Amino acid sequence: MGPLLSLGAGLLLLLLWARYKGLGYVLVHHRWVFVCLFLLPLSVLFDIYYQLRAWAVQRMHSAPRLHHQRVQQIQAQVQEWKKEGQKTYMCTGRPGWLTISLRVGKYKKILKNITINLMDILEVDTERQVVRVEPLVSMGQLTAHLNPMGWTIPVVPELDDLTVGGLIMGTGIESSSHIYGLFQHTCVAYELVLADGSHVRCTPEENSDLFYAVPWSYGTLGFLVAAEIKMIPAKNYVKLFYEPVRGLKAICKKFAEESENKENHFVEGLVYSLDEAVIMTGVLTNNADTRKVNKIGNFYKPWFFKHAENYLTTNTTGMEYIPARHYYHRHTRSIFWELQDIIPFGNNPFFRYLFGWMVPPKISLLKLTQGEGIRKLYEQHHVVQDMMIPMKSLEQCIEAFHSDIKVYPLWLCPFKLPNNPGMIHPKGNETELYVDVGAYGEPRTKHFEAMASTRQLEKFVRNVHGFQMLYADCYMTREEFWEMFDGSLYQKLRKELQCAHAFPEVYDKICKAARH
Ligand SMILES: Cc1cc2nc3c(=O)[nH]c(=O)nc-3n(C[C@H](O)[C@H](O)[C@H](O)COP(=O)(O)OP(=O)(O)OC[C@H]3O[C@@H](n4cnc5c(N)ncnc54)[C@H](O)[C@@H]3O)c2cc1C
Ligand SMILES: *[C@@H]1O[C@H](CO)[C@@H](O)[C@H](O)[C@H]1NC(C)=O
Ligand SMILES: *[C@@H]1O[C@H](CO)[C@@H](O)[C@H](O)[C@H]1NC(C)=O
Ligand SMILES: *[C@@H]1O[C@H](CO)[C@@H](O)[C@H](O)[C@H]1NC(C)=O
Repeated sequence: MGPLLSLGAGLLLLLLWARYKGLGYVLVHHRWVFVCLFLLPLSVLFDIYYQLRAWAVQRMHSAPRLHHQRVQQIQAQVQEWKKEGQKTYMCTGRPGWLTISLRVGKYKKILKNITINLMDILEVDTERQVVRVEPLVSMGQLTAHLNPMGWTIPVVPELDDLTVGGLIMGTGIESSSHIYGLFQHTCVAYELVLADGSHVRCTPEENSDLFYAVPWSYGTLGFLVAAEIKMIPAKNYVKLFYEPVRGLKAICKKFAEESENKENHFVEGLVYSLDEAVIMTGVLTNNADTRKVNKIGNFYKPWFFKHAENYLTTNTTGMEYIPARHYYHRHTRSIFWELQDIIPFGNNPFFRYLFGWMVPPKISLLKLTQGEGIRKLYEQHHVVQDMMIPMKSLEQCIEAFHSDIKVYPLWLCPFKLPNNPGMIHPKGNETELYVDVGAYGEPRTKHFEAMASTRQLEKFVRNVHGFQMLYADCYMTREEFWEMFDGSLYQKLRKELQCAHAFPEVYDKICKAARH
């Protein structure tokens, strides 16, 4: 009843205010009003609906049995598209506002959209230590299912709403990626429905070209209908160490050392200014000193990036035991640090204790309701980028970010990049240590100009043999894009699988011109 009542009261207040000031004005200049009164309660209701649904489906054990039938429905839609004369490209029928990426592809409305109703966990195989899932299974759903059974996946990307399909077709990373690689590197098999309507399975041994070409292809080789992901035993706590580090050189050196140290199960850096950072390292454990347990995920707790910043302000190191699930989703409540721009007083204790239980608003609902005004404002005054660069270029990279956009905190997340075939791999023959540098927020450089500044960063990233995540705004030309990514295997498969008339090329799906 709580969320429903708040929703009713919120709507009423919003309407009164909108009548007084004009709806457009309120929505653009006081977005928090709308978010707090309306979106927060709605987000809670959404979550309840999805959790009930997942519970009901699992409960009836119908998922594996119906899976086959649901795949046939997808194949039938592809056959239908063929019969209709392959008039336009195909894409998934998931509405653009539901995805986590802040941008919505223009193509959704005009392409033949294929309904993919695949959101269930199919099988937990404890012997092979593999979980088989459908592509719309979300991270929240998966960890909630596995943890009580004593299992987890090696790389749990942060936000609850990220889906297996999106993480494989795009990118998935977490602070354990320095050991396990990206989300794609923890997968052992994919099943796809291809442009000819056939259903294939691929692994590193079987159809291996396809297996290596799928990640980063963004749905342009076929429809993913199932994936097998490795599992590891879950533990109850992460023993987390915090260390403030000053000086850019010292930060990069310390961060690289910790990332190479295999005894750290987790490594993460938060850079608060050009020469101040907190570096965190964690170890999974079942035993905790109860006096040092910090349940950072509880709704009334301070936002995690603010909590970590304290160690910098007080110039002290620290150690805490954090319940594992709280750790995995430590940036979820504040959407990294995006929420401070939407609800400026969101970390205030009064707000946290009273309304914190409804936070965060669902990104999908934020997008659905943002309107053209806010979208334009955001595009020109807000950066959301993840750039993945070799660890050896980190110092240069932070300097480049500083002079082009000056967004803090910066998120540093190390990862291992094996030399597999496919769109991304290191320049040399060997597995190389990379780092994801994430910038989310308002640029503080005076000369910021969305296109020019992003292009500057993209150029830097290409030059050091790095990669830009595909969900973000990409201002590169086609030539520049294929300079950054290795298209050889991808293009070979596009030909073999007759994708030319079935799916757009990945660049045409993600470039600036293709999205609003
Ligand atoms: C605020 C924010 C926070 C983020 N946090 C993280 C984070 O903590 N860790 C992280 O790793 N990443 C993070 N990301 C990036 C995120 O990983 C990518 O945006 C990811 O690709 C989005 O996943 P999604 O589930 O929304 O997928 P979608 O955006 O729905 O999917 C991405 C693409 O994959 C294709 N696709 C999806 N399912 C299928 C299918 N079944 N068949 C064929 N094609 C398919 C679609 O064509 C789509 O274009 C974040 C992004 C934002 C904006
Ligand atoms: C799917 O395509 C139909 C037209 O064929 C369109 O009306 C609908 O809006 C599309 N769905 C999405 C999610 O865009
Ligand atoms: C922080 O503490 C370290 C040692 O604990 C000390 O060397 C350093 O000078 C301190 N820095 C500041 C800015 O106080
Ligand atoms: C890569 O490996 C091949 C043989 O596998 C070797 O001939 C070549 O010199 C290596 N290149 C580099 C840059 O190490």
